[in-house]
Amino acid sequence: MRTPLVAVDGTLHLDGVSLEALADRAGTPAFVYSASTVEARYHELDRALAAVPHRIHYACKANASLGILGTLRALGAGVDVVSGGELYRAAAAGFGPGDIIFGGVGKSNQELQEGIDAGVRLITVESEAELRQVSVLASRSGREVRVAVRVNPEVAVDSVHAYIKTGQKGDKFGIPWDEAERVARLTMTLPSVRLVAVGMHIGSQLTNLAPLADGLRRLEDLVARLRGAGITTLEHVDIGGGLYVPYDDEPAADLAQYTAIVVPAVQRLGLELIVEPGRFLVAESGVLLTRVLYRKRSGGRDLLIADAGMSDLLRPSHYDAYHRILAARPRAAQATVDVVGPICESGDFLALDRTMEDVESGELLVICTAGAYGSCMSSNYNSRPRAGEFLVRDGQWAVITERERYADLVRRETVTPEWRTLA
Ligand code: LLP
Repeated sequence: MRTPLVAVDGTLHLDGVSLEALADRAGTPAFVYSASTVEARYHELDRALAAVPHRIHYACKANASLGILGTLRALGAGVDVVSGGELYRAAAAGFGPGDIIFGGVGKSNQELQEGIDAGVRLITVESEAELRQVSVLASRSGREVRVAVRVNPEVAVDSVHAYIKTGQKGDKFGIPWDEAERVARLTMTLPSVRLVAVGMHIGSQLTNLAPLADGLRRLEDLVARLRGAGITTLEHVDIGGGLYVPYDDEPAADLAQYTAIVVPAVQRLGLELIVEPGRFLVAESGVLLTRVLYRKRSGGRDLLIADAGMSDLLRPSHYDAYHRILAARPRAAQATVDVVGPICESGDFLALDRTMEDVESGELLVICTAGAYGSCMSSNYNSRPRAGEFLVRDGQWAVITERERYADLVRRETVTPEWRTLA
């Protein structure tokens, strides 16, 4: 874990801001992100790739809050979007069309059209049918669309959870390996599309980089065959995201090994590298603050009932994910507890059977490494307003997302249906 949490006067500070003081002011649950940590990760990756022409397109599915998007844009990042909503957010955060790549396995016609109208840098297609659809829509719009073909390299992927592996045979993502060349070559005969990139994304939280090397070998093979077939329009190779982030005491991702795999392959390809990191850039920047509402014993277990649960941070219950939990006031005394949320589900927990600091009701907990796939996966289940989001830097704090209000919960709804017929 590389989150800059420091105890000052007995209480944890993030980027110079007291988390207790912030929680007292802003309420809980609350997501707090360290801007300097996002910047440090961006620069670290940028330096690691310095030997080849490259662009870092932040996979904003990890955290699409405007304040985070703005922080990354200011660093020079591009963005990777996978829906019309993310495209809207990217534009709202000030990314220009040339900074945006548009992927995703199931883009609707409307979303594709939005991407075409925006003039994004490239649209990634994941099936022959989608490529044909892009060609039709682009022709109708009188525009040429720069497309990337996402291949499923069908390699054996090691990741911490089956739900976040994507590059294996039979996965729903990408064009099956044995069809990739044919579909890529189709771009030569279809109107209004120009093949500018081939790409892959084999999974998230990759514990082993060997499959990335296997996948890159396949992309090199594909590019050689496409060039052999007379395709001269390739500009980029996109290797997706997936870099590992430590949630506990494990070592950080081995960027030297990553570079050793990626750089020579990209040099041989002679293309610009596109990477789509999400988690790596933002996970360690963020914590989720939650207060212990009650402590009780049940069936011999000690339960801490917190005011944040699966509707705020789904990862523990959905992926069995581990997030370290600290007391905002560090102490030596330990206890073994279940940290559970307020939601009416037995699957609503933040940690089970966890040995951690011994805290009482009323105390503040810091759920670590919550900057990625936290707020963006939150919901209103049990009609709980979604948490606010805050940026901290050098002793200052700023609201980037206001906490939802009750009125926000019912804004799109009506008590009195207006009945109509479809005829
Ligand atoms: N590119 C594509 C095409 C992706 O599907 C993803 C993530 C990324 C890039 C970014 O991957 P990253 O660098 O963040 O590993 N909700 C899960 C993670 C789902 C990842 C989905 N795709 C979690 O909380 O662990």
